[in-house]
Amino acid sequence: MEPTITFLIDGEDVAAVSGQTILEAADAAGIYIPRLCAFPGVPPQGGCRVCSVRVNGRILAACVQIVTEGAVVENDTDEIRELRRGIIDLLFVEGNHFCMFCEKSGNCELQALAYRFGIEAPRYPYLNPQRDIDLSHPDVYLDHNRCILCGRCVRVSQDLDGKNVFQFVGRGIRKSLQVNGDCLGATDLQVTDKAVSSCPVGALMKKRVGYAVPVGRRTYDQQPIGSEIEQQKGK
Ligand code: SF4
Ligand code: FES
Repeated sequence: MEPTITFLIDGEDVAAVSGQTILEAADAAGIYIPRLCAFPGVPPQGGCRVCSVRVNGRILAACVQIVTEGAVVENDTDEIRELRRGIIDLLFVEGNHFCMFCEKSGNCELQALAYRFGIEAPRYPYLNPQRDIDLSHPDVYLDHNRCILCGRCVRVSQDLDGKNVFQFVGRGIRKSLQVNGDCLGATDLQVTDKAVSSCPVGALMKKRVGYAVPVGRRTYDQQPIGSEIEQQKGK
């Protein structure tokens, strides 16, 4: 469909198709807006707020906000970078993220965002939670200590895998990811389900896959997260 809407991101004209979100239009224009809970092919939930932008003066989530004609969007400003940095800092201290010991290192979107934002150590005290690791499935494990509650697996299991393996229970600090059964091994999850590969961090992982790609040669070891979008600019 031909773009019919024009709006501004950081002073730059961006063309959008009616009904597109700010995130989608920015992606198409080669402008990277950081995100964690958004995932291609499933509806956005606007949960993590890493994609926060200022739109006509208000802070909104770019993944759920539909583009409007003439909107003025601030994306890569000191204020917005600081806001996103604070969210990423909080995600690190809420869980147990020991990047140097995690098989997801180099492919982890949370770690990659920390690098992109220049975070070397969180500003807040660690909560050091003691959460379960579900090893009951023959091919997949779920480490709740690393789950950032992004909800990708919930939506991908439902909408792309046609199952209903994951769900959230509780609210606020008590919110947690649960599986549709006594344990992961009691669900109909398959290792090939898209839900497994949708996890941005090392929470939902395949068993018996260790260092198949050496550290240093993984996705975000090669280039910062968002580069693949920025390389589309002008194409
Ligand atoms: S297991 Fe992974 S995909 Fe699922 S909610 Fe947690 S972090 Fe997100
Ligand atoms: S990516 Fe938009 S709120 Fe998470």
